[in-house]
Amino acid sequence: MSTPDVWQITARAPAKINLVLRVGLPDSTGYHPLVTVFQAIDLWDEVTVTPSECDLLTVSGLGDVSGVPVDDSNIVWRAVVALEARGAKRTPLHIHLSKQIPVAGGMAGGSADAAATLVAVNALWGLGLGSHDLHQAAVPLGADVPFSLLGGLALGEGRGETLTPLDREVPLHVVIVRSSFELSTPAVYRELDGGRESGSYSHPHLEARDLASMGKLASGDLVHVVANDLHDPARALQPDIDRVLSAATEAGALAALVSGSGPTVWALCESAAHAQDVSSTLVSQGIDAMPSCATARGAELVSDPSAPTASPRVPPSR
Ligand code: C5P
Repeated sequence: MSTPDVWQITARAPAKINLVLRVGLPDSTGYHPLVTVFQAIDLWDEVTVTPSECDLLTVSGLGDVSGVPVDDSNIVWRAVVALEARGAKRTPLHIHLSKQIPVAGGMAGGSADAAATLVAVNALWGLGLGSHDLHQAAVPLGADVPFSLLGGLALGEGRGETLTPLDREVPLHVVIVRSSFELSTPAVYRELDGGRESGSYSHPHLEARDLASMGKLASGDLVHVVANDLHDPARALQPDIDRVLSAATEAGALAALVSGSGPTVWALCESAAHAQDVSSTLVSQGIDAMPSCATARGAELVSDPSAPTASPRVPPSR
């Protein structure tokens, strides 16, 4: 194992939305099987790793990042441990997270941080792990971490960790609307289960695989494809979401949907210009919105360890 002669590496990983999220009945562990179509979005968290005298985690970013734990409960340390388990010799690290992805927003921000950490530490420690090994390291970290590594467009099954890359690009323009309120993921799943028992929500219909294989996603007619079984349960628990959904459609979005278990909402638009218009209208109403689009990329190095640009940069402010 060779150690590259660099002291700082930055990697990034994208946010995700679920174009389709179908949720089955809970299994014996209480977890719900999913059939989902993941799409990576051009909104990135960056992770910078630097050898240090002791472990340290710092966070900066867009919006409120105070909800990100900076102690050893943060998922990025589990990513480091997962690499140790693959033979890496552990040395203390300063990990800095520079966050664009909404915190606890249903867009896999924590998973993106874990995926980018795997990529960055793999490079810093010169481990030479390929995508298969990184995927294996990612699976136990969390259901969305493997997709954060992969990026692009993919069918997700199981808890989302069983991935089939879909070899097509969906021309997708969106507006991401961040919320100031919180939603607990387990509570949203519980609301879905309860509502299914009482008949308020329809029973599981895991058809996303058909959608993917039928190529409907590529047809461009996304407005008739997008769906999220957690949309109504999230709305039921957090009625403020309805205000955001209405504002997005009144601003001209083709559709507006809760992202994952929320509370972030994403709005489907026709083009980059349309997304910019919708976003500006929402911002003028005091709503925290930003335009974005699909990306075919996944977690990747921002600085190439073999290139001169990877040489020392100003350390992130603490
Ligand atoms: O994946 P994450 O750690 O965010 O999940 C938080 C909780 O949400 C889980 O402990 C579980 O209660 C619920 N959940 C679920 N089925 C899933 C994903 C999450 O029941 N597929």
